Amino acid sequence: MAFIQWDESLSVGVPVIDGEHKSLIDSVNKLHEATESLKPQRTVSTILDSFVDLVSYHFRREERVMRATGYPDLEDHMAKHREFETYLLANRHPSKEKARPPSDRDAVNHIKQWLVDHIRNDDRLYAPYTGDNPAVVTAFYETAVYEDV
Ligand SMILES: [Fe+2]
Ligand SMILES: [Fe+2]
Repeated sequence: MAFIQWDESLSVGVPVIDGEHKSLIDSVNKLHEATESLKPQRTVSTILDSFVDLVSYHFRREERVMRATGYPDLEDHMAKHREFETYLLANRHPSKEKARPPSDRDAVNHIKQWLVDHIRNDDRLYAPYTGDNPAVVTAFYETAVYEDV
């Protein structure tokens, strides 16, 4: 049984976004596996780095979709994204006085809980604003120029 198992309760109804969420979940599962099997810190850091990159890429694409579809709680949603990114960056480069390395089990559990709660409670709220038309969002994803928002 995977650490996080994707199921329909996590679907936002837009296949291209569900696909990105599945990649994020995959990455957290790898992080969990590496920490549980006590892989070297270097290995854990590499997985965490790639998770942070995926998160950043996904958040910016998602924010562009919300902006394009006129989602009214964009600012609040973006604040949640930034808060999670700040948390990840703090764990990616732990300072000497901050004894909380990325391999910390609590940190991996927090990442899991945040991601699942965010997809289920926050991401699903913008789905209706996509006009129940996944094809539009998919086309937007495929054609947009991804400069920073
Ligand atoms: Fe989000
Ligand atoms: Fe998301």
